[in-house]
Amino acid sequence: MNRFTGRTALVTGAGSGLGRGTALAFAAEGASVVVAGRTRASLDETVRLIGAAGGTAAAVVADVTESEQVRRLVEEGAARFGGLHIAVNNAGILRGSGPVADVSEEDWDAVLRTNVTGVWLAMKHEIAHMRANGGGVIVNIASNLGAHLRIPNAAAYITSKAAVSALTRAAALDHVHEGIRINAVSPGASDAPMSLRPGETEADRAERVKSQNPLGRLAGAEEVAAAVLYLASPAAGAVVGTDLVIDSGASA
Ligand SMILES: NC(=O)c1ccc[n+]([C@@H]2O[C@H](COP(=O)([O-])OP(=O)(O)OC[C@H]3O[C@@H](n4cnc5c(N)ncnc54)[C@H](OP(=O)(O)O)[C@@H]3O)[C@@H](O)[C@H]2O)c1
Repeated sequence: MNRFTGRTALVTGAGSGLGRGTALAFAAEGASVVVAGRTRASLDETVRLIGAAGGTAAAVVADVTESEQVRRLVEEGAARFGGLHIAVNNAGILRGSGPVADVSEEDWDAVLRTNVTGVWLAMKHEIAHMRANGGGVIVNIASNLGAHLRIPNAAAYITSKAAVSALTRAAALDHVHEGIRINAVSPGASDAPMSLRPGETEADRAERVKSQNPLGRLAGAEEVAAAVLYLASPAAGAVVGTDLVIDSGASA
């Protein structure tokens, strides 16, 4: 399929994991992809992988918590490939384990700043471009932890991702009349770095996950990407403000 030929897609946090998988999937279907994150080397590797597969991509270093850097990211990305049609706000961090009373203020602030303010700032600048250029599509990456499921000792992350789910719906209502469709994808434990516990191997993780969700396995990065691409595609033209859970049945 070549659903995104002639389109430019921006993916934040595209130097690893689900963001890299999503960037590769968009490029494989014809999009020119702007990959963003804070680490030049990992972004360059994503660009190399896309190029090796016959696709087109460019890296822009940007921290989603810094408004001016995000404004420049959107400007440079749009200039590089002639417009910005699709944005996937995937950058996120997982910190601050332990019960609520023991979460440090530093971890709380970092998680909320990256996962919530980072998604808001990204949308703010993406929408400014899209509303002046005929519209666009945005997919925010939330989590099944948040609006859909809670577990002990992850309150900062759960709070931040519930906020991403709510922010997505609020933004969808605010901007649909400007030709901008906004939705979220909420992955569960996926085949990407964030689901690895400290010191855990991929084999350990696969064993642990067997008993943690009804399907008995992680979601593949390509399965999460497939949901993002669907929401970004014309086939989802009437899908507005939804939050698509891809979590192997964990929150069913
Ligand atoms: N993996 C899972 O099981 C899972 C499940 C549910 C939801 N999610 C969500 O899916 C997203 C991707 O997760 P992942 O597993 O692929 O994690 P990951 O490999 O750690 O990827 C996160 C990416 O975000 C970037 N990033 C972090 N802070 C940033 C900032 N301030 N500005 C710009 N980029 C930043 C990181 O790159 P730099 O550090 O180089 O900037 C990294 O490439 C996250 O939002 C996560 O919460 C993951």
